[in-house]
Amino acid sequence: MSLSCIARNELRTPSRNTRLEHAIRTVLLSALLMVPALAAGADETKPPLRLCADPTNLPFSSDDPGKPGLYLEIGQAVAQKLGRAVSTNWYKSYFGKRTVRETLLAKQCDAMVGLPLIDDFMGPAVIFSKPIAHEGYALVGARDRAQDRKLAGIDDLRGLRVAVQYQSTPQNLLAMRDDIQKVTVLSPEEGMTALEQGKVDIAFIWAPVAGWLNKTTYGDKYQIVSTEGDSLLWATAVGFAKASGALRDEVDGVLPSLQPEISALFAKYGVPNGAPVKFGQMAPATISSVGTSEPVTVGQATAAEKPVQTAAAAGDANAGREVFNGTCAHCHGPDAVQAERKIDLRLLKKRYADDMEQTFWKTVHDGRPAKGMPAWKDVFSDDELRNVYAYLQSVQDPGGSN
Ligand code: HEC
Repeated sequence: MSLSCIARNELRTPSRNTRLEHAIRTVLLSALLMVPALAAGADETKPPLRLCADPTNLPFSSDDPGKPGLYLEIGQAVAQKLGRAVSTNWYKSYFGKRTVRETLLAKQCDAMVGLPLIDDFMGPAVIFSKPIAHEGYALVGARDRAQDRKLAGIDDLRGLRVAVQYQSTPQNLLAMRDDIQKVTVLSPEEGMTALEQGKVDIAFIWAPVAGWLNKTTYGDKYQIVSTEGDSLLWATAVGFAKASGALRDEVDGVLPSLQPEISALFAKYGVPNGAPVKFGQMAPATISSVGTSEPVTVGQATAAEKPVQTAAAAGDANAGREVFNGTCAHCHGPDAVQAERKIDLRLLKKRYADDMEQTFWKTVHDGRPAKGMPAWKDVFSDDELRNVYAYLQSVQDPGGSN
């Protein structure tokens, strides 16, 4: 579907339901079309897993076999684990209640990947797997913004020009703030354009599309910080019809082993899935940390506060930290803080000494698939990985003991 559909729907979306409305976009255009696809190791006695998906909804799904999209690829990975082939019911619509009624609940498919996991979404007719992802809004800004400030709360946007989507949660959130200059846009795409043209300092827009455009159109030049708060971030899951409890349980059974693959798919499509910044309420005056990790920052604030050693490294540690927190932190901990020693990357220097760099490249390029460490060479460029290495160097445990 085109981004203009988002805009149209935003226009008729009551603000209270914004989070639902992001999932509810109904543009009913094409008839259902079955396209069976072979999955390696598919058991011919088992029927294919039928997925409903929108053929024109990147980064989530598309009928271009070279770029099937995040949710379709997750569905394919799930099917493969279950030993089933995949067939796709193309349905030209964004996920929404009407779509779900006319596809999943009309038994046109067995599962839909990426439905919003929220209480009021069509339960009890629809049942869900465990969460697979989060979707929501993000703050997008240039990596080299002059303003060195943290973005840990609304107050941190003071004095900035901020693009917000019409009738979206961010727009509502900022509505009362005279000290923040809002620039209304109709789509995430338009928000990115405003940023690119220097019309705004920050775009507070729908994150998956922002991430996808950043990756495919803007050469990753923007930093994307997910936000967390009421109607700013929600979990998504695989949805099934109520009668498909057994299939749901089977899918839940294989999801944990698919985590590495799913993390890699997020990175592949540029969709943020990292540690979010708490941003929903009016922020306290002081910057508070999120969980055990520091708040994610936009711009150079981190460098100013916590100098990173880049002397020996060619990479940019701040950019590396961002990749790390967006992708690696799922397993290795936000800011590499990880209690489990085996995957505590602050111990690399201690563990490998002069072989640290070599071990890093080998492990990160090829992964250790048998042990749950994905291969990243097809996901990140060597420049990006060099940045990650520079970041990891800056967090090495300096102590010589234990
Ligand atoms: C899905 C979980 C997962 C993700 C995501 C992940 N890793 Fe790992 N990683 C592991 C596991 C598990 C190990 C330990 C493998 C072993 O036991 O040898 C590991 C090991 C490593 C090691 C070697 C550690 C050592 O002491 O030998 C490095 C380096 C590493 N990961 C870097 C990264 C980087 C960089 C990223 C992000 C681009 C990343 N990992 C993302 C799970 C993950």
